[in-house]
Amino acid sequence: MTQHLSGELKWWQSGIIYQIYPRSYQDTGGDGVGDLRGITQRLPYVASLGVTAVWLSPIFKSPMRDFGYDVADYCDIDPLFGTLDDFAALVAEAHRLGLKVMLDYVPNHTSDEHAWFQEALRGKDSSKRDWYVWRDPAPGGGLPNNWKSFFGGPAWTLDPASGQYYLHQFLPTQPDLNWRNPVVRQAMFDVLRFWMKRGVDGFRVDVIWLLAEDERFLDEPANPDWKPGEVEHNSVLHVYTQDQPETHQYIREMRQVLDEFDDRMMVGEIYLPLDQLLPYAGTPDAPMVHLPFNFHLIQLPWDAHAIREFADRYDAASRAAGAWPNWVLGNHDQHRFKSRVGAAQYRVAQTLLLTLRGTPTVYYGDEIGMQDVPIPFEQMVDPAGLQQPDSPAAGRDPERTPMQWDASPNAGFTSAQARPWLPLAGDAAEINVAAQEADPRSDLNYFRALTRLRADFPALVRGEYRSLDTEFDDVLAFERTTATEQLVVLLNFGPLARELGSLVSGSTLLSSLGDQPEAAAPLRPNEARIIKR
Ligand code: GLC
Repeated sequence: MTQHLSGELKWWQSGIIYQIYPRSYQDTGGDGVGDLRGITQRLPYVASLGVTAVWLSPIFKSPMRDFGYDVADYCDIDPLFGTLDDFAALVAEAHRLGLKVMLDYVPNHTSDEHAWFQEALRGKDSSKRDWYVWRDPAPGGGLPNNWKSFFGGPAWTLDPASGQYYLHQFLPTQPDLNWRNPVVRQAMFDVLRFWMKRGVDGFRVDVIWLLAEDERFLDEPANPDWKPGEVEHNSVLHVYTQDQPETHQYIREMRQVLDEFDDRMMVGEIYLPLDQLLPYAGTPDAPMVHLPFNFHLIQLPWDAHAIREFADRYDAASRAAGAWPNWVLGNHDQHRFKSRVGAAQYRVAQTLLLTLRGTPTVYYGDEIGMQDVPIPFEQMVDPAGLQQPDSPAAGRDPERTPMQWDASPNAGFTSAQARPWLPLAGDAAEINVAAQEADPRSDLNYFRALTRLRADFPALVRGEYRSLDTEFDDVLAFERTTATEQLVVLLNFGPLARELGSLVSGSTLLSSLGDQPEAAAPLRPNEARIIKR
């Protein structure tokens, strides 16, 4: 059935994206850090999940100050992860298994160790000076303006040799590229071509909404809603550093490069409200990203009413804009969704992600119900946490811990003698792939049941979405329909059984509680149920 879909929908529309954080998936080298050979070894597992594409967080040469989001060479693999040959083997194995491969493209900034920045540092006359964003000190001396780094402190660092400051929206070791410079754009577009020629099917594009800054370099206005104790970056409104018109233009150009090759795609990391988000899909004449990441399931309160209201608006707006929708519950920058919504709601959330209209993106380990791992300050390695000790939630280590494969000493992630780069979850001996493979009622097999339903019932993939009224605030109900199929998804966000009456005729295809209740039986506390009418 998935076969005949492919004629109508592209893989990135009908499929599911699975994000792997390479440091944490599988180590084969015994250094406690995951690598490409490890990922390749585990690809049959990935395929067994019923997902379509793997997105790898950055694997390029990097000093790893931001764990690979600080790239020193876009066209080489960091030795920590392997070699270009290892990558070729990974792509070949993925394709053999019918999986697409997506890389993480980091265009906004390089590492300070990138040869381009090293050249730029040679002085104002350097041929690459204008590849980065430089400003003189303010008239009275000091920072050029009040722009802030996402990781705390100013977005400017002084280069003492030239007396100028360079811009970095993240760490001082992550200087921002100057996208206004057409030569920079060409160099960065060549990076895309380099990887597409090596068989890469798509890209997740890092902080794509930050590419351009306003040329006047004015101070950003104070954010009236900001309270002391919240991350400093939010103390101003980012009207001059985010979502600039030029950024839209650069993305249109980027898209033309993708379109030089067959069937490639990009998904953009964009944390913006709906009205600013959807324009990133572009128009039929001037397309931009294939999928502008929709992070609202992460940001909204976990509340049936709020989610219904958003899903209705998003579905209608996507349709009107001609954009294909997508949904995300977790990634390497966000606390694990099971920790956010609570264990009781875990399967409700998973069901929602995989049954709403649009492409789901799944974060590794969420399919077995991995949770945040508490990391004491002494063991913290994430710069976002280390630089902002007053905002403990800013640290991203808890959601980046090693994949839990089995009950052996390092959970099968690395050899028993090795020291994993981040500690394993305390419950890894119980919560792991091997244990869950053996249990038909496990979270892992529930995940597979959901992906199987998507394969068996095209309505879940390409059907219309319509939310349904119930008399209960804590129930989210919606249908997914094609001309020949009508499925109803019922999600109980609360701890009380709910009698839904006539809404639920038909037969139950799947219940999150692991049995097969009558479709019309009351929806039990925290139950997700999928019904075929
Ligand atoms: C994105 C990445 C994040 C990284 C930042 C800087 O938000 O997801 O992990 O720290 O960009 O590249």
